[in-house]
Amino acid sequence: MKILAIESSCDETAAAVVENGRKVLSSVIASQVEEHKIYGGVVPEIASRRHAEAISGVVKKALEDAELTLDDIDAVGVTYAPGLIGALLVGVNYAKSLAYSKGLPLVAVHHLRSHIAANYITHPELKPPFFCLVVSGGNSCMVLVKDYTEFEIVGRTRDDAAGEALDKAARSMGLPYPGGLNLDRECRNGNENAYKFPRPKVHDNELDFSFSGLKTAVINTIHNAKQKGEEINIPDLGASFQKAVVSFLCDNTEKAVKKYNMKKIVVAGGVSANSVLRKRMKELCEKNKWELFFPELSLCGDNAAMVGAQTYYEYLSGNRASLSLNAYATMPIEKDPPDCV
Ligand code: KG4
Repeated sequence: MKILAIESSCDETAAAVVENGRKVLSSVIASQVEEHKIYGGVVPEIASRRHAEAISGVVKKALEDAELTLDDIDAVGVTYAPGLIGALLVGVNYAKSLAYSKGLPLVAVHHLRSHIAANYITHPELKPPFFCLVVSGGNSCMVLVKDYTEFEIVGRTRDDAAGEALDKAARSMGLPYPGGLNLDRECRNGNENAYKFPRPKVHDNELDFSFSGLKTAVINTIHNAKQKGEEINIPDLGASFQKAVVSFLCDNTEKAVKKYNMKKIVVAGGVSANSVLRKRMKELCEKNKWELFFPELSLCGDNAAMVGAQTYYEYLSGNRASLSLNAYATMPIEKDPPDCV
């Protein structure tokens, strides 16, 4: 089954053709990063406009690269939530018009489910059930993936997402957008024990995260140093901050995996590209003899190939969006897509 998938939830306009959920026939991404860089973050209105300009060309190229036409496509999958509402609407409306004009089934796909599905492409042998740490720019949570379309959240961030905290901390250190990526690159040789950060305390659920206090601690460290006329060593500060974030993610993962007695650990989302997280997770899983899965680097950030992978399983489970499908800025991963027939 050949699926044409579309993604426009943030600042990447992407389209891909994926066969049977696992084989990528083409994947095209038009990134807006350079344009948002001058503002230090994504400007939603600009993102929507650029998606509207790029989407036709991106879809056309995805079909050309796969050496297919729309007549060869069996279904259209599209990210409908969560994300920037204006950005999502561009992809949703484009997908609806394609599906309508060609009489194709339309499948509504949750963005975080797609991030998890990126792993099905990199690891053809991977099947649920497994435990997943989802860490992206807009979301951070721990999920029991019971089946391809059945999820249970066991821990989530109470405030900032891990990627958001990395981006904001990087920005306060004067590193360009996207901060998480640049922090990883620039602080590789920093001393991760140079600065001490407190472990955030989260009440009620020991598996939840909280990153806003850590982010504030970095900003305070920089302000205090400036007031005293002291030099800040950015590679050391960045490495220490990454260590604090990654330790929190790994410690909670360890607690949750033991609590739910899981053996397969999957990491997903943009922050899964982080070199420190990859190293620490590998050590953790080796120590506990757990199997570990990360997406290949090219599939960690937003792309449509992962949407195509998840679309296949959503289609098999009966997900058929109606032409009144809407976009949603927030939506729990567990919830079945609304606006379905
Ligand atoms: O998954 P993603 O592309 O977009 C969302 O769905 O949110 O994640 C983007 C996030 C940004 O916060 C970016 O800074 C972060 O992923 N990121 C990284 C790295 N590459 C991207 N964070 C840490 N280390 C990286 N190598």
